[in-house]
Amino acid sequence: MSDILTTDNISVAFGGVSALSGVSVEVREGEILSIIGPNGAGKTTFFNAVTGTFPPSAGRVFLEGKEITGKKPHEVARLGLARSFQNLKPFAEMTLLENVLIGRESHAVTGMLATLLRTRAFAADEERQQQKARELLAFVGLERRQESLARNLTYGERKMLEIARALALEPRVLLLDEPVAGMNPTETGFVMELVRKIRTQGITVVMIEHDMRMVMGISDRIYVLDHGELIASGLPHEVRANHRVIEAYLGGGKHAPTH
Ligand SMILES: Nc1ncnc2c1ncn2[C@@H]1O[C@H](COP(=O)(O)OP(=O)(O)OP(=O)(O)O)[C@@H](O)[C@H]1O
Ligand SMILES: [Mg+2]
Repeated sequence: MSDILTTDNISVAFGGVSALSGVSVEVREGEILSIIGPNGAGKTTFFNAVTGTFPPSAGRVFLEGKEITGKKPHEVARLGLARSFQNLKPFAEMTLLENVLIGRESHAVTGMLATLLRTRAFAADEERQQQKARELLAFVGLERRQESLARNLTYGERKMLEIARALALEPRVLLLDEPVAGMNPTETGFVMELVRKIRTQGITVVMIEHDMRMVMGISDRIYVLDHGELIASGLPHEVRANHRVIEAYLGGGKHAPTH
């Protein structure tokens, strides 16, 4: 398998404090890769650096062999790298369908003039976009909630909407930041199946997650961050038995990868 996303020694500092130092990863096309580590390890910072939310202060990022370091998040998304957020930001006063349609905007093929004139081409394209958005909502199990306002969703439903919105960009690589945080075991099981289905559609998945049952259950490989540094990587059973990993978690006291 070839690498679809790589970072070469990326670092991020906030006001002189190093949040990420010299992190190099290789994500292989078609894999489910997890990034784990104690709270504050730099996991979300890694996603922010890769997607251009907070560009790295040093190092380089490549997507399908092309350098994307420092590109704006929307450019990165257009090039095939989409993410979900740890802190959800749906448009509360819009329906789910509208929330997903906004995500699809960059895929609308109709030109500005056609849009203004509301031509037949525009209507046909709009219908196609709507159809695709409905399919995405069905894919994440929200087909019956299409017309609900996002603010009326349960916590778990909002997380599924967040995944649908990211998928609306038709990414090659999907970054998920704690997709099952706060979910019950039934919901977590559903998301595990969903991530597997996403992969079978040819999308590479990189997931940050604290739920070790999920991480150990679906990851092809795992990278471990601690204090902004990569301390281990490998197959789930290798990472679980790694002494540095065990120490990092015991030191942090929380979320030990033992179960
Ligand atoms: N925008 C920011 N400004 C200043 N410091 C930040 C910023 N974002 C993150 N940090 C700091 O960088 C470090 C890494 O934070 P990050 O959010 O990446 O951790 P994390 O591994 O995602 O943790 P968690 O598991 O709790 O989500 C922390 O010390 C955090 O306080
Ligand atoms: Mg985080």
